[in-house]
Amino acid sequence: MRTQVGIVGAGPAGLLLSHLLRRDGIDSVILENRSLQYVIERVRAGLLEQGTVDLMSELGLSDRLHREGLVHHGLALRFGGISHRVPLTDLTGKVVTIYGQNEVMKDLIDARLSGGGEILFEAEAVALEGLDGTPRIRFRRDGADDVLECDFVAGCDGFHGMCRPSIPESAITFYDREYPFAWLGILSESPPISDELIYVHHARGFALFTMRSQVLSRLYLQCTPDDDIANWPDDRIWDELHLRLGDEGSRLAEGRVSQKAITPMRSFVAAPMRFCRLFLAGDAAHIVPPTGAKGLNLAAADVRVLARALAEYYAHGRTDLLDRYSDIALRRVWKAQRFSWWMTSMLHRFENQSTFDRQVQLAELDYVTGSRAAMTALAENYVGLPFEPL
Ligand code: FAD
Ligand code: PHB
Repeated sequence: MRTQVGIVGAGPAGLLLSHLLRRDGIDSVILENRSLQYVIERVRAGLLEQGTVDLMSELGLSDRLHREGLVHHGLALRFGGISHRVPLTDLTGKVVTIYGQNEVMKDLIDARLSGGGEILFEAEAVALEGLDGTPRIRFRRDGADDVLECDFVAGCDGFHGMCRPSIPESAITFYDREYPFAWLGILSESPPISDELIYVHHARGFALFTMRSQVLSRLYLQCTPDDDIANWPDDRIWDELHLRLGDEGSRLAEGRVSQKAITPMRSFVAAPMRFCRLFLAGDAAHIVPPTGAKGLNLAAADVRVLARALAEYYAHGRTDLLDRYSDIALRRVWKAQRFSWWMTSMLHRFENQSTFDRQVQLAELDYVTGSRAAMTALAENYVGLPFEPL
């Protein structure tokens, strides 16, 4: 098998890249080790920056997103038992949209398959060869070994993928931070308790109210990183949500819980995001804690830059944008890292936190919600920073 760009991973990064390349007449094949069913049912992110929605629109893939997505003009920060609204649109002129990552995946996969594009599901990439010449991706499918030859490899295989570990240690640097907590997330058949997200700072730990539709709520609770989901029967989750959400929680209907999982939290960056003819994008290159809602959006921003660089290469033989890909992407990545770390540090309960540390957190929340300048800084990061000029 041969293609121009071999893409490892059919997550948001890999799929969006394949659509962007196709628009510019560039062929790609996606290898995905999971099944189609698994990929479209995986419940993860939900909040799209305006730039991500615009990208879907540019690709002609936003009909359902515009019909079913929930447009938000603000959010609430709740601390000391009181909710404070941050008017995102008044402060920035932009909106964010709630639309589940699995819905984005469905739209991207449907369009890719109906357009004759190739996604090989249950095809696991096992080795990358020839990255400094003619790259080959060795993969296994239906118990047989196969090879995909290409001009470039796009490593869009997420944090646990094989592309990043294929780069020699001497050619890459890792920046890493683990947090002493995790998020327990549920999806519940409960109508939203508010039109906007509520981020809660509470003595018992962080909580987040978000949603997927008029009948489905998504709720998160800070828990310990080694917590076992078996320790969290539904009753305990509801009790904890009611406590942390306070009077906002009194409107929360305890619906059927259809999904429950614990996600560890970390900040991670691999730099540079390129090795010879391998380009990393999305979670393969960086992870953010979900408090800033940046992971999927960063994946979209990376591939926007990468697709442009590849298009210039194929159209005009230019290599300068490919050479600058990592620097351009990392400028935005580090700003999103800073924002996600800041939101996480401000809103979570840290074990061993002194009473002084806690008062400083509360003062920061009070300042952020009381100063238009500080609130604007939060808002412009939250709705998404502008793309770097190419
Ligand atoms: P992935 O989605 O991880 O896709 C990688 C793909 O590669 C996978 O399908 C995997 O099966 C495949 N793969 C791996 N190894 C191989 C191999 N060897 N061969 C072939 N295929 C392989 N982000 C936001 O922007 N907003 C949010 O609100 C938000 N909330 C979140 C909430 C939670 C609870 C979690 C867990 C994450 C959240 N995120 C959020 C982050 C977001 O889900 C990720 O950043 C996003 O999925 C990254 O996309 P990706 O395409 O880079 O990687
Ligand atoms: C979500 O809707 O799942 C979501 C929203 C905002 C976040 C994290 C997750 O910060």
